Amino acid sequence: MPHRPYVIDPMISAKAIAARVEALAGEITAAFAGTDKLVVVGLLRGSFVFIADLVREIDLPVEVDFLEVSSYGDAMESSREVRILKDLRGDIGGRDVLVVEDIVDTGFTLAAVLRLLGTRGPRRLESCALLDKPSRRETQVTATWTGFTIPDEFVVGYGIDFAQRNRNLPYIGKVRFTASEGTSDDGAAA
Ligand code: IMP
Ligand code: MG
Repeated sequence: MPHRPYVIDPMISAKAIAARVEALAGEITAAFAGTDKLVVVGLLRGSFVFIADLVREIDLPVEVDFLEVSSYGDAMESSREVRILKDLRGDIGGRDVLVVEDIVDTGFTLAAVLRLLGTRGPRRLESCALLDKPSRRETQVTATWTGFTIPDEFVVGYGIDFAQRNRNLPYIGKVRFTASEGTSDDGAAA
């Protein structure tokens, strides 16, 4: 499938991300002090870079697990439930759990995941999102910890994709289209 040409304008540098991740990990370590084990649940695929950096800064006994969910299509818009594509490997009953998400946008994904994991009887269930776009929210949910609050821009990098591309960028940037499909180039560099 052809892609509309776009460029990526840097928004959050790798250095700024690293500093923020270290601070978040410090807060998480303090909040869960004394835990026998913290189960850190990464939501695939967008959180894979963030969770890798975050767990290495958390000074607690940690277990890492992953959950992959997919939003239902527009036909199910009224319920906005999520479908489990890959479930956790471990049982979280009675455990301290931290859900790690890349972006909270409408909020339906995080809300549904917290609701689902909440039914499994964790001792404590908190969440950490790298990015938050509060202006896009359609359901009332806020991550316990947020890395950066950003405006309503489509972003990529540091694990986050645009049509599965750009996950490997070490920084976060916003997508800017340089030409429209089917029209001649407006002169912007592609
Ligand atoms: P929500 O259920 O609308 O909050 O959806 C959150 C999910 O949408 C995130 O986990 C991302 O996978 C995706 N998403 C939201 N905003 C962006 C973006 O700017 N770039 C890439 N993916 C995004
Ligand atoms: Mg996602």
